[in-house]
Amino acid sequence: MADMQEYHGKLVTIERFILDQQQAHPAATGTLTNILYDMALAAKIITSKTTRAGLAEILGSAGEENVQGEEVQKLDVFAQRTIFRLNDHTGRLAVMASEEEEIIPIPSRFSVGPYVLVFDPLDGSSNIDMNVSIGTIFGIYRRKTTSGPGTLQDVLQPARNLVAAGYILYGASTMMVYSTGNGVHGFTLDPAIGEFLLSHPNIKLPARPKYYSTNQGYQPFWTPGVQAYTDWLQRDTPEKKGLSLRYIGSLVADFHRNLLSGGVFYYPADNKDPKKPGGKLRLVYEAGPLAFLIDQAGGSASDGTQAILDVEPARLHMRVPLFIGNRILVEQAESFIRRYDQVTVAA
Ligand code: AHG
Ligand code: MN
Ligand code: MN
Repeated sequence: MADMQEYHGKLVTIERFILDQQQAHPAATGTLTNILYDMALAAKIITSKTTRAGLAEILGSAGEENVQGEEVQKLDVFAQRTIFRLNDHTGRLAVMASEEEEIIPIPSRFSVGPYVLVFDPLDGSSNIDMNVSIGTIFGIYRRKTTSGPGTLQDVLQPARNLVAAGYILYGASTMMVYSTGNGVHGFTLDPAIGEFLLSHPNIKLPARPKYYSTNQGYQPFWTPGVQAYTDWLQRDTPEKKGLSLRYIGSLVADFHRNLLSGGVFYYPADNKDPKKPGGKLRLVYEAGPLAFLIDQAGGSASDGTQAILDVEPARLHMRVPLFIGNRILVEQAESFIRRYDQVTVAA
């Protein structure tokens, strides 16, 4: 892979960068490269709608519910359809899966390919109408079955099997951040020319964390361990200064800020909503791809007891508690949960 210094201060499009990265894999056929190209194209198409959502009759509810029983926003539907239409006919994927549906087969009139695309088409939907940053999350696996249409078995893989993952952040600027296992790289869309340009090569989590990010509105419903952990985060300790709280309510935006500033995001299990006893975030298309990225950026992600990368998805929409960010902060979360929450079974 080209040395990152080579790119410093240069004008590099995401297409050129992805192609350069492909050179590091002599056996590469270019299929994964093309899937990443198409995610960048999806980002441009979805951005064109988000930047004028208030005008383009794209705000508000689509008047339907998704498989989660959640109200679907028009932009959720638009983003879902955009990603599907860019990928259904290319012969690169065996199957797709997203937050909005059960698994999404490749239409029988098209050929299937070696990869699997999992995605959250629009993350932070509750923020769309409030003009607050939202995002898209994606992960790419190699299929496990050997031929024919992809199946749920191809989708339900632990995040450690990912070959690529990334997100798109529709914020003050639109960014695409991805990794194929050779570091995490960020690109900013220049709307004047419609190109994603390399703006954040080889992102590494800062050693000194600045923020903790969680919805403290649920604090009364957290376990004693998570309550004690939150108190620890707020205080100066030998390991770190007391952290400030930042919570946007869009996972992609909260994750991105912590990736650049250092910190921890957590959405723990709580006993407030019986519908989400094990936390709200979904393993396959939210926690898993971000765990792949944070690992590449020098951090870690846990469900409070084990690495997210190793959690086996039992179901497509399986929810997990999520602690993600600087390794020392995630390890402390696990330590507090071990100390306060895990009732040791009497020998
Ligand atoms: P989505 O819009 O894809 O359903 O995801 C929303 C998620 C995530 O983006 C965010 O971290 C979390 O919901 C916020 O949940 P609360 O409003 O309960 O804090
Ligand atoms: Mn989401
Ligand atoms: Mn979503």
